[in-house]
Amino acid sequence: MKLNNKIAVVTGGGRGIGRAICIKLAEEGADVIVASTSAEPAAEVVTEIEARGRKGVFIQTDVSHYDSVKNTFAQVLDTFGRVDILVNNAGGSARGKMTRFCESEEETWDHVLNTNLKGVLYSCRQVINHMLERGSGSIVNIASVAGMIGTAGQADYSASKGAVIAFSQALAKECSSQGVRINCVSPGPTSSDAGRSIPPQMRKNLAMEALFKSTGFGRFGEPDDIANMTAFLASDEAKFITGQNYAVCGLMNLGITDSMHGG
Ligand SMILES: NC(=O)c1ccc[n+]([C@@H]2O[C@H](COP(=O)([O-])OP(=O)(O)OC[C@H]3O[C@@H](n4cnc5c(N)ncnc54)[C@H](O)[C@@H]3O)[C@@H](O)[C@H]2O)c1
Repeated sequence: MKLNNKIAVVTGGGRGIGRAICIKLAEEGADVIVASTSAEPAAEVVTEIEARGRKGVFIQTDVSHYDSVKNTFAQVLDTFGRVDILVNNAGGSARGKMTRFCESEEETWDHVLNTNLKGVLYSCRQVINHMLERGSGSIVNIASVAGMIGTAGQADYSASKGAVIAFSQALAKECSSQGVRINCVSPGPTSSDAGRSIPPQMRKNLAMEALFKSTGFGRFGEPDDIANMTAFLASDEAKFITGQNYAVCGLMNLGITDSMHGG
């Protein structure tokens, strides 16, 4: 097992991609703290973790509030004594909606940036000194292909995810000499609860159908696809990898699919 006896914190681990990451890390031998807003789905994930013989704990956390994040990591360090792996997965677009930027408002920008960008900074800030002092640790930030190429209807979301990629590269440069690695995984369209919830009319308006069909495999990714890459980057198998961003998107709309199909 890649992650035997490691202590991992996964934000937003209650459902979707985060749920798959929690279960994969447990299968690879890690104890997993599920740091998420809602208790009910997280309790099911804790049961799944324990069914794999590992310790699972839910701590109610809102990553967009620094006090909440501080409280979570204080509890984790108090209970487990260390954090080996941090996966910043919590995030999403403007309350599940797709909105053209010309119709968007500051309130939604704040929500998106506070959750997707500041949430990552808050969690990283709470573990980074601890990891640097121990001379080891792996952080995996779940960004998005939207942060690499931009997605119509998600300008604020794209900005937040692009910033997460740049932040991760910068932090990796600050920390590599002290044994701490920071990488990103950028999912393409993935069959999570959020991925399914975009209304048909909005997809039509924003040419989302074309985007969603544009993977090289002609289908959405699965949460497991993201979880597998995350577990690899979290593990010592990736010990020479830091400051990287891996798109797990089935060649979606990155300029490669079109040329392969002669389009
Ligand atoms: N699904 C996709 O197609 C897709 C594509 C690219 C990137 N992503 C990214 O992957 C990550 C997971 O997405 P998903 O599709 O599984 O989403 P999801 O909405 O299904 O799950 C998100 C989880 O995060 C939690 N969460 C949301 N806000 C939170 C907060 N402030 N504090 C703590 N927890 C919070 C939710 O409770 C939920 O458990 C997100 O960062 C998302 O931006 C998803």
